[in-house]
Amino acid sequence: MEQSAKIRASIHERGSQVDYPGLLDTIGNTPIVKLEKIFPFKQPTILAKLEFFSPGGSVKDRLALALIEDAEKRGVLKSGGTIVECTSGNSGIGVAMVAAIKGYRSIIVMADKNSKEKQDIVKAFGAELVLTPKDAHPDAPESNYSTAHRLAQEIKGAVYLDQFSNPANTEIHYRTTAKEIWKQTNGEIDFLFAGIGTGGTISGVAKYLKERKPQVKIFGVDVEGSILSDYFYKGTISEPRLYQVEGIGGDNLPENVHFKYLDELIMVGDKESFQAANKLCRAEGIFAGSSSGAAVAAIFKAADMLKAYKLGVVIFADSGHKYLSKQFSPEWMRQMGYAE
Ligand SMILES: Cc1ncc(COP(=O)(O)O)c(C=O)c1O
Repeated sequence: MEQSAKIRASIHERGSQVDYPGLLDTIGNTPIVKLEKIFPFKQPTILAKLEFFSPGGSVKDRLALALIEDAEKRGVLKSGGTIVECTSGNSGIGVAMVAAIKGYRSIIVMADKNSKEKQDIVKAFGAELVLTPKDAHPDAPESNYSTAHRLAQEIKGAVYLDQFSNPANTEIHYRTTAKEIWKQTNGEIDFLFAGIGTGGTISGVAKYLKERKPQVKIFGVDVEGSILSDYFYKGTISEPRLYQVEGIGGDNLPENVHFKYLDELIMVGDKESFQAANKLCRAEGIFAGSSSGAAVAAIFKAADMLKAYKLGVVIFADSGHKYLSKQFSPEWMRQMGYAE
């Protein structure tokens, strides 16, 4: 009971005392495990924060609850209201789950490149799913961003959570994910690897860690086709290209990516990310998604930069279940030319 009360206080701050935890009380407070076999080096030790232990299966449960409760607090989301969110899938699942618990209608907008499993899970929670063309330019009226904006304007009593620019996104990771990592490493963390989608996770965690230990190095994981790395290193905006890794990389610059907290961006490709996710499963028994594979591939790529450090943390944002039809399908891997 004490544990549940603590979770409630740290994540939800609702202030009410309950006898038994509800499902929302199990969001966050995810475990950290040491990676034993996948990397060929002994130093640094690398710990993985397993965000798929959350009830909706990803790091995005934290965000879904935080953004919905923020909208309630601001008075823009009222009983009987509708929640609209634009997502690569995991936020949609988190939002659909929290909306189901709280009794809101939810409309989840995602590009059709995201896995069928994610689409089905969103619908299982009773959400309405709107698919948009994967190759739509972010500014085009049919893009996922524009569609979500339009729906929120058209539907009476609807609120667009907007994880890309809503500051409550970065803040929830500052208040929860970051604190957990600091505590779980006794403040001994030297570096962090995390994928960048909206930027909320990496920016919130990095801000907290750097306030306590300015020398902590923050490595963002980016994917080939995304515009983020070019912007970070050259200050230029390149033309986005389609890629298959889900949840990370950007075709625009979200306000929640706070570049000032990032030290390096490591760019990896689809093939190496998918292969690394399979390797992770076999070497460590960790069944994680493609952005986790990308993070592992990024650590391999940055290995020379890490030699001087003792302890790092990598965030594994979701599990492999949602990608059985992609990187965990040998047939799909062969068809796409990603097989080893
Ligand atoms: C699988 C996966 N990994 C990483 C991320 C990136 O997290 P953030 O949006 O906080 O940058 C996301 C975001 O949707 C995701 O779904």
